[in-house]
Amino acid sequence: MSNYHIKNLQEYFQLYRKSVRNPELFWEEIAEENFVWRKRWDSVLSWDFTKPEVKWFEGAKLNITENCIDRHLHIRGDKTAILFEPNDPDEEAEHISYRDLHERVCRFANVLKGKGIQKGDRVVIYLPMIPELAISVLACARIGAIHSVVFAGFSSTALATRINDCDAKMVLTSDGSYRGAKTIALKEIVDDALKECPGVKTVLVAKRINSDIHMEAGRDEWLQPLLDTAYADCSPEIVDSEDPLFILYTSGSTGKPKGMLHTTAGYMVYTAYTFKNVFQYREDDVYWCTADIGWITGHSYIVYGPLANGATTVMFEGVPSYPDFGRFWQVVEKHKVNQFYTAPTAIRALAKEGTVHLEKYDLSSLKVLGTVGEPINEEAWHWYNDHVGDKKCPIVDTWWQTETGGILISPIPFSTPTKPTYATLPMPGVQPALMDENGKEISGNQVDGRLCVKFPWPSMARTIWGNHQRYKDTYFSAFENKYFTGDGALRDEVGYYRITGRVDDVIIVSGHNLGTAPIEDAINEHPAVAESAIVGFPHDVKGNALYGYVILKDTGESRDRDNLRKEINQQIADKIGPIAKLDKIQFTPGLPKTRSGKIMRRILRKIASKDTSNLGDTSTLLNPEVVQKIMEEAL
Ligand code: WT7
Repeated sequence: MSNYHIKNLQEYFQLYRKSVRNPELFWEEIAEENFVWRKRWDSVLSWDFTKPEVKWFEGAKLNITENCIDRHLHIRGDKTAILFEPNDPDEEAEHISYRDLHERVCRFANVLKGKGIQKGDRVVIYLPMIPELAISVLACARIGAIHSVVFAGFSSTALATRINDCDAKMVLTSDGSYRGAKTIALKEIVDDALKECPGVKTVLVAKRINSDIHMEAGRDEWLQPLLDTAYADCSPEIVDSEDPLFILYTSGSTGKPKGMLHTTAGYMVYTAYTFKNVFQYREDDVYWCTADIGWITGHSYIVYGPLANGATTVMFEGVPSYPDFGRFWQVVEKHKVNQFYTAPTAIRALAKEGTVHLEKYDLSSLKVLGTVGEPINEEAWHWYNDHVGDKKCPIVDTWWQTETGGILISPIPFSTPTKPTYATLPMPGVQPALMDENGKEISGNQVDGRLCVKFPWPSMARTIWGNHQRYKDTYFSAFENKYFTGDGALRDEVGYYRITGRVDDVIIVSGHNLGTAPIEDAINEHPAVAESAIVGFPHDVKGNALYGYVILKDTGESRDRDNLRKEINQQIADKIGPIAKLDKIQFTPGLPKTRSGKIMRRILRKIASKDTSNLGDTSTLLNPEVVQKIMEEAL
């Protein structure tokens, strides 16, 4: 029995037990049999959650692109590695073979080197979902540069914050992007951001929408001519197992975004292993994850995990609603997609349109359906199962985080019996724990608590870039000697996990992780605003939507409220991005606060959700009278 590929439930349990009894042996065998190493490790794992410090495969040397590309060339050179499906269904799809990918990554790597990028340098990538995005990610990894992809829906302020936080020398972008019927002027956003980023010396620009753009002399250059003249081979930089691979920013409940740092060997081993098992990928399958590479899902399960397995991975530029709500299914039929991985928010948006669009297409190629990003509600689960999967495709509800690098809890399709809304069982090597309010682990089944992990797994983030203390405080301080996820979960009678949602001030809107504090900061910068608080409330497509309570400086002022609402949302769009806009804004004279000055969000959440029959204990409030007022004026 190989550790690498789980084939039935009995084997899963055997491997799981082995992985807990002897994690080092378990991962060592997987690492040894399935990857190319330039030098073997001296030790499999060393760890100390109190520092915290975790090292996997220390002493080993490798390059991840050699594992994702070069080693496939002699057996799969002509196989499609990346299948690019453009925004416009009439534009031809592009099949990039492993051989083409090798050449394009090498050329790109040589361009980066030519511009002075060296091992350890940070390169920010602000590109839409076009092949250059995946290729540039791999080109950075090829030369040991650290990529930091910023989702190309973020605003110029958000982009500037990230560029400066990681001190990037170079930005890769495009003239613009297509998004359904719209085009977005990406280069203008970059130009705006760079006014605040003196460290950026070079901007390389891919051409996508052929728009007229400003090119800053001495800084900006078109990418294509550089690629055309670059040498088509570039030997990989051989790095240490714990050398940084990338930084990816994620929202925290407070303060600025956290640059999660992922390192090379453990990340590679874990994403490859989980890709193979969670999607049960077979050699001739076509796999499609609809995420954007700007999120961790795209890093791990569009680029690295699939390519490390020699898979064909679809990269989709468009949106589910363009030209109509049948687009996903048209693409599934066209490319005979076998594994399809998307987010609950997309499923809900599609379910709303009924089944007319589905019925037009042949979805019989589908074998496995995946979901990620937030808890999936029962209705959406059944719609996905009945209408997309025709009750024949297991649904893998995969729970994980930017910080975890890879999927931690998920069914193994065709092995683990699924249960709607349950992520079910931990992957081999993952040891979850549920904790009570007093910091004690809750044993047994049919219990709920805060979800922690008590043993390291290979792809966990190693630190927050530039702020190790914050890493420790955020993830390793709430519970002694455990990684705290920020989520609540319950364990049912057979040991299946169901994730119940965040227990901190992070709100997940359409699968996007948003911290309350940065949004409140953006609102408070409006000259008319004194203070604000935002909470989530249930929304039938987005999962959660944002509800803002705003105190104005001068309540007597006769300003047009609707205008103010527009301005506040514009402010949020400028500072963070359109995804963080508020669905409802209530102007209020005060916010419920405890004696220590903390806003009691629990009450605001209840009011926003129209669930005010029992507000719970309000005895610690400094200003209980304000609650009545807020309730009366609620939207
Ligand atoms: C948070 C992490 C992992 C890639 C996408 C999100 C929530 C994620 C599930 C799921 C319930 C889920 C959690 C988690 N989440 N997957 N299957 N069921 N909740 O990455 O932006 O870092 O967000 O997303 O609350 O903590 P992220």
